[in-house]
Amino acid sequence: MKIAVMGYGTIGSGVVEVLEINKDKIAERAGEPIEVKYVLDLREFPGTSIENKIVHDYKTIAQDPEIGIVVETMGGVEPAFTFVKEMLEAGKQVATSNKNLVAAKGAELIKIARDHGVNFQFEASVGGGIPIIRPLNKCLTADEIEEITGILNGTTNYMLTKMADEGADFDEVLKDAQDKGYAEKDPTADIEGYDPCRKIAILTSLIAGQQVDFEDIHCEGITKITADDFKYAKAMNRSIKLLASSRKVGSSYTCIVAPYMIDSAHPLCGVNGVFNGIFLHGNALGDAMFYGSGAGKLPTASAVVADVVDMARHQHTNIYIDWKPEKLTLVSYDDSVNRFFVRTDSPKEEVEKIFGNVSYVENVVDGEYGFTTEAMAEKDFAAKADKINVINRIRL
Ligand code: HSE
Repeated sequence: MKIAVMGYGTIGSGVVEVLEINKDKIAERAGEPIEVKYVLDLREFPGTSIENKIVHDYKTIAQDPEIGIVVETMGGVEPAFTFVKEMLEAGKQVATSNKNLVAAKGAELIKIARDHGVNFQFEASVGGGIPIIRPLNKCLTADEIEEITGILNGTTNYMLTKMADEGADFDEVLKDAQDKGYAEKDPTADIEGYDPCRKIAILTSLIAGQQVDFEDIHCEGITKITADDFKYAKAMNRSIKLLASSRKVGSSYTCIVAPYMIDSAHPLCGVNGVFNGIFLHGNALGDAMFYGSGAGKLPTASAVVADVVDMARHQHTNIYIDWKPEKLTLVSYDDSVNRFFVRTDSPKEEVEKIFGNVSYVENVVDGEYGFTTEAMAEKDFAAKADKINVINRIRL
């Protein structure tokens, strides 16, 4: 099997490395050796093992009948979409790690692959090396998945863990995450939640069986979380995690990305550092939890190569993925129901008049106190919160 890798960055070079270090096992499992014939990149890589494989025009790959599988690790929607579409139309199978591409064009590319009798697989696009896409497509197809909630971004989980452990403030931990190479130079997609938003859109599309647009998902990042918030979390035996979550409501889902204060008994509370965790509840299965390395070169490459092996074994068989292009209308954000923790310095009589029965959290930060609310719709909370001075609020 001759393959091509498009994009020789962190993940693409990891794919070449995994294929090399586990060559024999991979050949056995794929039923034949896997050989990288081309690497598509704008750059040259003189003195490396791929220096003679570099091509700069994707058409060289699309037009080569020897190429059976193409790996896309370029990132971004374009030109990745144009390249991948053309590969599928040329009868080549494609494996990608690119969540931006899958979230935006997944349903379309699955259909194009099916129409051409090939496969489009994307195990590495969510949760890095954690198996979650294939389990959803195969192992859990007997279930109605009623909830899927994940810590889907390693960078922000690293930052929040450090804030919890060291009492550090946001700017300090961001700098540390950048120094360690976890956060991008422009870390917006991580800290504003755009990265986990695309990932939960993919997972929700898979459990719903139809298109969920990430633009429809309410998305809050972690930029407003402070060291004082963690003091309250500690006092309440909770931690603060950036969750990406979908819950079934009637025939649709309520879907959100936001920081949550979760109880220390929740399985996701123990997911720390750069690790990712995905908790789900099936109506027959009950609870299940997936945990592991959600980012990084070799873990992500491992998932990409697993797709390559699977596709080498299914060269003339389309593996069915239930993700139809028809758009699913999510429950509106305004009507989504949550409980809230609120920090305020407004008089308690006012708080009780507006919120009714609340539970107080006191003596944590001077000059203010916290309280927790009953479950209520986002729009009702917003209307009530408008009437008091909210220092911060975090969902429970
Ligand atoms: N920036 C992402 C993270 C990379 O930190 O999880 C993996 O998608």
